Amino acid sequence: MQNSKSELSRLVVAIVGCGTVGGGAARLILQNQDHFRKMAGVDLVLKYLVDKNFSHARSLGLPETLFCTELDTALADPEVGVVVELVGGTGFAKTLFEKALAAGKHVVTANKALLAHHGKELFALARRQERTIGFEASCGGGIPIIRALYDGLLANEIQALYGIVNGTCNFILSQMAGKGQSYADALRDAQSAGFAEADPSLDVQGGDSAHKIGILANLAFGAAIKPEDISVRGIDTLQITDVNAGADLGYVIKLIAQAQRTASGLSVRVEPSFISRHHPLAWVSGSFNALSVYGNAVGHTLYYGRGAGAMPTASAVVSDMLSIGTGAYPLQFARLGNWLDRTVPVRATPESEIVRKYYLRFLVQDKPGMLAKMTAVLGTLDISVASIHQPEVAEPQDGDSADGMVTVIIITHPTSEQTIRQAAREICALHEVADQASLIPILDEHPEFKA
Ligand code: HSE
Repeated sequence: MQNSKSELSRLVVAIVGCGTVGGGAARLILQNQDHFRKMAGVDLVLKYLVDKNFSHARSLGLPETLFCTELDTALADPEVGVVVELVGGTGFAKTLFEKALAAGKHVVTANKALLAHHGKELFALARRQERTIGFEASCGGGIPIIRALYDGLLANEIQALYGIVNGTCNFILSQMAGKGQSYADALRDAQSAGFAEADPSLDVQGGDSAHKIGILANLAFGAAIKPEDISVRGIDTLQITDVNAGADLGYVIKLIAQAQRTASGLSVRVEPSFISRHHPLAWVSGSFNALSVYGNAVGHTLYYGRGAGAMPTASAVVSDMLSIGTGAYPLQFARLGNWLDRTVPVRATPESEIVRKYYLRFLVQDKPGMLAKMTAVLGTLDISVASIHQPEVAEPQDGDSADGMVTVIIITHPTSEQTIRQAAREICALHEVADQASLIPILDEHPEFKA
């Protein structure tokens, strides 16, 4: 059904930051205008591209009439209804939010770092100004996961979220698992392919995933966890030996961001984890993202797509504008209880209550009684062993220098994070064991508990 022209609502847009995503959003607005009028009844008008440098905009062939070097010109224009913040970071971006909201504009953003650290105050400011903040692009790129949480799954109490929310890490881990590359070589390939930044630390150390899962946990549980209470481990210390050993046991390594309610609070974690090769997230490879959400009515739902890149992220940014243009988003922003300024503080689940299976790898002197000594430590701590693996090494030939060390891999039954860390420390303290062990959680599929 086509909307008649008289039903069209007009929304004038200023995009601030004309890089990869800003350029993509501008192209999408110009390219799909007829589609927006027909399907959303919104006349989306791009009036300003604000930046200091327009070389990228020129390379995309965007009209020079849109270029504007003075932010205040766009903010002072009463026609502008929405300002799109695509400058990134938490400095100037925050000032831009404050100025745009004070000027009575809606704001749309892809900036997860800003929302993770200042979301509560910025949402409160938007509410005081009777404006909204659209942030679909901040988590999962083009995947409409934010809308799924606040709208599509609104009938459910959410029980758990599990996600692969960083394409850079997933690309690197896919290279390590698929090609047997070391972390350093896989990172170099990711940088050459344009999937990793020159300074990849925010991605590979898990910070970007932590920002995203913190925002998603707010929405899913109506509960605010402090950024410092999110447990974060990155992929930058992961060894190919463990990726390969896990694969031999039927596991795939993924950087899993997860959030779930527990008896004493909310557990929000980012960590390299083994999942079965049959797990729904196991086949998500390369730079793709995916999220599993478990609701108490619907059970398991899965969302998959491109988590970064110009047009996938532009898809989310422009959809936010359209939802503001139709009036749907302002209504939900005013009504719903789980926006970042309305969530209530929640306690982080302590490590003593984080219970799952673990993979442990030790380097051990190859001599009688060693396995007994190691399993005695586990037994004393009430950790039950599921399996033990000691790959056979060839007898040294004449002239070989053997260091007499062998690899011992132990898979445990579920135990707590606190207990397994103590066990690893105690085993590494044995004088026949090298003082570094690998410790990787093994995540089973979350059970479906239906209402
Ligand atoms: N750097 C992110 C990633 C994309 O690699 O997934 C932006 O959130």
